[in-house]
Amino acid sequence: MEKSNGQRVILFPLPLQGCINPMLQLANILHSRGFSITVIHTRFNAPKASNHPLFTFLQISDGLSESQIKDDPTSNVMSLIAQINVNAESPFRDCLQTILSQESERVSCLIDDCGWLFTQNVAESLNLPRLVLSTFKATFLNAYPILPRIRTKGYLPVSDSKAEDSVLEFPPLLKRDLPRIFGEDGEKLDPFLEIIVDTTMKSSGLLFMSCEELEKESLNLAKETFKVPVFAIGPFHSYFSASSSSLFRQDETCVHWLDNQEEKSVLYVSLGSVVNIKETEFLEIAWGLSNSKQSFLWVVRPGLVSGAEWIEPLSEELVRSLEEKGKIVKWSPQQEVLAHRAVGGFLTHNGWNSTLESICEGVPMICLPGGWDQMLNARFVSDVWRVGVHLEGQIERREIEKAVRLLMLESEGEKIRERMNVLKDEVGRSVKDGGSSYRSIETLTNHILSL
Ligand code: UDX
Repeated sequence: MEKSNGQRVILFPLPLQGCINPMLQLANILHSRGFSITVIHTRFNAPKASNHPLFTFLQISDGLSESQIKDDPTSNVMSLIAQINVNAESPFRDCLQTILSQESERVSCLIDDCGWLFTQNVAESLNLPRLVLSTFKATFLNAYPILPRIRTKGYLPVSDSKAEDSVLEFPPLLKRDLPRIFGEDGEKLDPFLEIIVDTTMKSSGLLFMSCEELEKESLNLAKETFKVPVFAIGPFHSYFSASSSSLFRQDETCVHWLDNQEEKSVLYVSLGSVVNIKETEFLEIAWGLSNSKQSFLWVVRPGLVSGAEWIEPLSEELVRSLEEKGKIVKWSPQQEVLAHRAVGGFLTHNGWNSTLESICEGVPMICLPGGWDQMLNARFVSDVWRVGVHLEGQIERREIEKAVRLLMLESEGEKIRERMNVLKDEVGRSVKDGGSSYRSIETLTNHILSL
């Protein structure tokens, strides 16, 4: 670590695994540049402070009841985040005020998730500059100002004959992707999007976990759209691993299991920390994996399957058949798994973290996006970078078997793997000394010091 520069940065992640990981990785990046770090967090999904002894952690109330936290909170993430956005404003203001009145070091800025709606106003009222972290691909955040227009343009509901058409305002999205972006009551999103665009434009800068090698044009467009300095400092996990910020206990036995598998023979399957699937879909995935006769490591997060605790919908016969070639765990050390020599493919929901982690390890993907930004990430993977196969939402055993065999066994899969290796090298260069992302960290550090 560089010598302390006498300045402190305050971080405030959205309380979701996919948002906590990058924020704590960012904390490590800034700490290595000499900043002291304070992390303000909610009680819900509180990060484990003991895993980060170099940082100060301060918990604020999120106003959620015990039962709201205990009932599967991932079943409606949007509504949960909306509630916390109302409940946490006042405790956040109090907490920030206390820090600012007590700190002996200079507090340079607040950096928080673009999903917080009240932080810009609070920071402004306390004369504290605020930077915004997007845990989405820049292309997706750029679309926030136009999403309400796309929703009302008459594309929805999407007929079969139009499903393959491009959304001209939002390439490379297809019309078939739109229903899963807007959900059933898409109009409820409009006020959130408006506030996020407005507060981002009032901020002192915008950070992306991305790089020019992945989306140079979108990063330039983000500067035009939000009219603030933009910093793409690369996939954050390239500098610091996410494992210490895991909210769930990671099952390390899967790494020992992988040690005994052939090179690039295992398909890793995980749908991240928020996606839910129906029991019928779960069974189709199970049969698809079993029928593919390929080895697999499958993360079934408790709560993944609506209405089930864990894997009880699987019959004994199916479990026996799955155990012949695979292993099922509740949560894995994902970065370590993707970096393992035995892993040759990733069936993923295309959360932005998972997508980046897969690219950085050169693991080609099978795309099964659940909604929101995942729809766009999956299009980039399958249609733009061409480093994956898209299931096109068909959670059907034959389609899954076909995709697994194509990726793991066939010559087309080999071509996808070759393209993935090229992309991996390009992104890898950007985070090395002198690369575009690495240089962006320098610019970001100087920007924060100048605030
Ligand atoms: C959410 C959104 O779904 C995603 O679209 C957005 O880009 C970020 O916020 P999530 O669904 O959890 O995130 O997906 P993802 O972005 O992939 O993040 C999951 C994180 O959990 C990754 O860093 C991954 O390495 C980690 N993980 C996942 C584990 O450590 N172990 C697992 O078993 C599964």
